[in-house]
Formats: sequence, C-alpha cells, structure tokens
Amino acid sequence: MSQRIKALVFDAYGTLFDVHSVISTCNQNFPDQGAALSQRWRAKQLEYTWLRSLMGRYEDFWQVTESALVFACKSLNLSCSPATRTQLMEAYLHLDPYTEVREALKALSNYPLAILSNGSPRMLHAVVKSAGLEGVFSHVISVDEVKIYKPSPRVYQLASQRMSVSETSIGFVSSNSWDVIGAKAFGFWTCWVNRSAAPGDELGVTPDVTVKTLADLVDVLKA
Ligand code: 2OP
Repeated sequence: MSQRIKALVFDAYGTLFDVHSVISTCNQNFPDQGAALSQRWRAKQLEYTWLRSLMGRYEDFWQVTESALVFACKSLNLSCSPATRTQLMEAYLHLDPYTEVREALKALSNYPLAILSNGSPRMLHAVVKSAGLEGVFSHVISVDEVKIYKPSPRVYQLASQRMSVSETSIGFVSSNSWDVIGAKAFGFWTCWVNRSAAPGDELGVTPDVTVKTLADLVDVLKA
C-alpha cells in the first residue's frame, strides 16, 4: 500500500493545527466561556463553508471564520467588541500545532508534503510560519483557487493537479471525518486521524486507515 503513495497531503485546521488553542484567548475575554465559544465558533465556521458552497456564494475562509465568530458570540449572549473580535481573529493566525506534528512531518519528509485546506492563502501562510513549519511543504494549497469548500471533489482535484500526482497515488490525511470521506470518495488513499476516538460519519465510505495521532501514520507508512 505505501508503495502506491507518491505524495502526502494534509488537512490544516484540526489536523496539523489545534483550532481549540483559541480557548485561552476566548477565556481572557469571556471568562469560563472559552471552551463553549470555541466549539460553537468551529461548528458554525464549518457549517457556513458547506452552506456557502451549496448556495454558490463563496466568501473566503477569513470572512467565513469572522461571521461564524459573530454568530457564536451572539448565540452565547457574549458582547464582542470590534477590538475583541480582532484579537480572536488574530489568534487564528497563531494556532498551536499538535505536539507530534513537527516530528511526524520530519519522519515523513521522504514524501513530497502538502497542505490542502479551506484556509485562505494568507491564513495558511501565517499559521505555517507561526508554527515554524516554513519549508516543510512543497505546496500549500487553498480552496480559494477554486472558490468552493471541502468536500467538493473540485478541491481534491486541485491538489492532484497542483502536485502533478494522480489521485490514486495521493495519501490524504485529516482529522475531520467528513473531509477524509470526501477525499476517499474522490479517489485518494486516506488516513483519518481520530484523536478523540469519535465514531466515523455514516456516509457509506470508510477511510483506508484510522490512527490516533500523526506519529501512528509514520508507523503505518513504514510497514
Ligand atoms: C481545513 O480545510 C477542514 O478546516 C479544515 O483546514
């Protein structure tokens, strides 16, 4: 199986970078509400990507993320000043990578490595730089090029095109179950990073492998 893989493509948010590292900034502004706000913010952010894709009304991920933050604050009756909104949005540019990320990527550096993400180019370059991962990826690919969000097949096709690697030779890695399923349905070999032992989505497609962390992926690909 690993012989067939010629390149590894990683999802960004939730897979390499912990979206819930914004909780501390949320708590500074809204004591004890950080976890709830972060959960609602992320859930609404994803929902808006799906809704905008269905409506054919693309806005980039920065705008979607800000709209989701506004909604999440309102839904928790939190009054978010423009300065606080700016501070919380800036936190998205400095998300923490998961602890194993740097070492795992180093161990996988015999493959061309890429990011394929909903994030806008500016957001992705900022978070990669902030995490000290500059130079690790041959490609940092944003859905902004095709103006539709995952799990549209056009997004996965973009990675294959940009890397000049056929879909059957790409290994796609994501912690978002629906993203892995979209990528597998498109034709990628897929690895679901299931850190929280969550049930898989019931969409009739199963990832090729499921691991707990990216360190386990290193072992799978060596086998
Ligand atoms: C990403 O595309 C799905 O948020 C996830 O980075």
